[in-house]
Amino acid sequence: MPTGEKSLLRFVTTGSVDDGKSTLIGRLLYETKSIYDDQYQAIEKSSKKKGLKEVELAYLLDGLAAEREQGITIDVAYRYFETAKRKFIITDSPGHVQYTKNMVTGASKADCAVILIDARNGVLTQSRRHGFLISLLQIPHLIVAVNKMDLVDYSQDVFSRIAEDYMDFSQKLDIHDIVFIPVSALKGDNVAVKSKKMPWYEGATLLHNLENLNVSADRNLVDFRFPVQYVIRPHANFRGFAGKIVSGTIAPSEEVAILPSGKTTSVKSIITYDGELKEAFAPQSVVLTLSDEVDVSRGDLIVRKKNLPAIESSLEAIICWMDDEPMTPEMSYIMKHTTRFVRASVKNIVYKIDVNTLHRQPADTFSLNDIGRVEIKLAVPIFFDPYKMNHATGRFILIDPLTNKTVAAGMIRGAERHVEDYVAGVAADDAKQKKSPHAVWRDLNITLAEREKQSGHRAVVLWFTGLSGSGKSTIAMELERRLFECGCRTAMLDGDIVRHGLCSDLGFSPADRKENIRRAGEVAKILFENGNIVLCTFISPFKEDRSIVRSLFPEGRFIEIHVDCDIEECRRRDPNGLYKKAESGLIKAFTGLSSPYEPPEKPELVIHTKNADIAGCVNALEQYLKDEFKLKIFKNG
Ligand code: ADX
Repeated sequence: MPTGEKSLLRFVTTGSVDDGKSTLIGRLLYETKSIYDDQYQAIEKSSKKKGLKEVELAYLLDGLAAEREQGITIDVAYRYFETAKRKFIITDSPGHVQYTKNMVTGASKADCAVILIDARNGVLTQSRRHGFLISLLQIPHLIVAVNKMDLVDYSQDVFSRIAEDYMDFSQKLDIHDIVFIPVSALKGDNVAVKSKKMPWYEGATLLHNLENLNVSADRNLVDFRFPVQYVIRPHANFRGFAGKIVSGTIAPSEEVAILPSGKTTSVKSIITYDGELKEAFAPQSVVLTLSDEVDVSRGDLIVRKKNLPAIESSLEAIICWMDDEPMTPEMSYIMKHTTRFVRASVKNIVYKIDVNTLHRQPADTFSLNDIGRVEIKLAVPIFFDPYKMNHATGRFILIDPLTNKTVAAGMIRGAERHVEDYVAGVAADDAKQKKSPHAVWRDLNITLAEREKQSGHRAVVLWFTGLSGSGKSTIAMELERRLFECGCRTAMLDGDIVRHGLCSDLGFSPADRKENIRRAGEVAKILFENGNIVLCTFISPFKEDRSIVRSLFPEGRFIEIHVDCDIEECRRRDPNGLYKKAESGLIKAFTGLSSPYEPPEKPELVIHTKNADIAGCVNALEQYLKDEFKLKIFKNG
């Protein structure tokens, strides 16, 4: 395979020198033939001279150590190697005192982290600290290499104990993919070659794991974000916008919005050195031309018209302080966010995190290496996504305008709810659900019977439930069109639409879904009482929530329709790329994957969509309404 086609994996190694990190990196370079013969011979010679049995591969990295001793600060070192399958960049962040700052600078773009644990010492505070930073930086994959297995007689017990210990701890963190590998970097066991000394270990070697990690699934290919780096105007007839697609995909003729102006237009062409593209995706660098003459300048963000980022001038973020001078709260710093620079000040320190204990503490300021949550006020709004959803538009740095030094790196928090907010939320929901004591009941002026008489059909609620991607909205919308064209009074209530307004304050916890369905049910009731055929499309995964809605309607007027399709098929269809996102951990509590779906036991109707076409499904529904429900509405019915 030509080198150009190989994928690239960036990974960060952490662990102190004593854990054998240098030996491990040396071993990887050696086994992948990434060092010169004379380099190898030199370290072979010096190892012999010192009377060592093994060649001390860590000496390969000695250059760096020496520079460090001379007082030259090398915060983060990068090393390159490649195999037949892949290219690798190792970010080696030294484990000395400045670990936090180094990790945050070095690891924020890593696809994977390799933590080394010395088998003799087990899980130490430092290994936990690194795990915490990896979780904070949202590095998608973690490999825990339990090293020096040769010094513990290649004991399975020792390995299992360490793995369990670390697994226990990592439950508290936001890490989804952890692999444990017993290795001896010195002897070469399980680094690139499978060890014969540990037949009990059935997994693959470290190198095999690194070669086969699927990182494309970690990229956000859903939310198109294009921060404009340069406006290119070689002559009056051409205006192009150069930059890097930091997430998502784009194609000519797709509709886009320019932020901050909010002007909309469409993409005319996508230009690269190699010619025009029919589609481009992150992380490509391209020049876009637009169909209309809209104003676009450097620092603007081009996004899809129907997929906008958040726009705020105050936000919450986790920051890591990187300057020797402590933070001066309220001081005006410059925030660099994507390609924009904005004045910013830290309004409030919510807490500082003790990275050793993970405890939160109150703080008045941050010093070098401190990490914590802050509230930031900006002079003008920025357009961002939570770091969790989109690293590129969710991170920033703060710059001291006087010294021009980077003083902090930050990650913007999203509207995601945490356990404590959630508990508070439930209490608030309880309060909200109490009826206002002064509201009186009022009947509608025109009764349901009068409305039905005039429209010529009965009002009914058609409640479509099923997995995301099962086809609920597609079928319901098509049915609605047929009803509408027959002159029926119809109303559509769709989960995705409702969640943009009426229910935009709700997430996907069971309690939030309950409230979502409760509101939807109440709105459906109003629409029903106004004489409509109300088509409701909600995943509504919980039986109890659906039965509460059912109880709002007279017998026979609530038709539950199970749009049934197996999860594999839904996942294959994945119309909005949400399954992909959920699988890579970007969406939590996703129905069918990480949150349950309770199918109805006795729905009025089941529609299987796996092998059916839309028209067929809608015909079946139409037939049902004619036969079972005696809904005499259709032109030829
Ligand atoms: S419900 O569970 O409360 O009934 P609802 O139907 O309103 O869900 O909204 C589902 C829509 O929200 C899906 O079509 C999908 O676009 C989006 N969504 C975002 N996060 C999730 C999630 N964790 N689980 C399911 N759907 C999600």
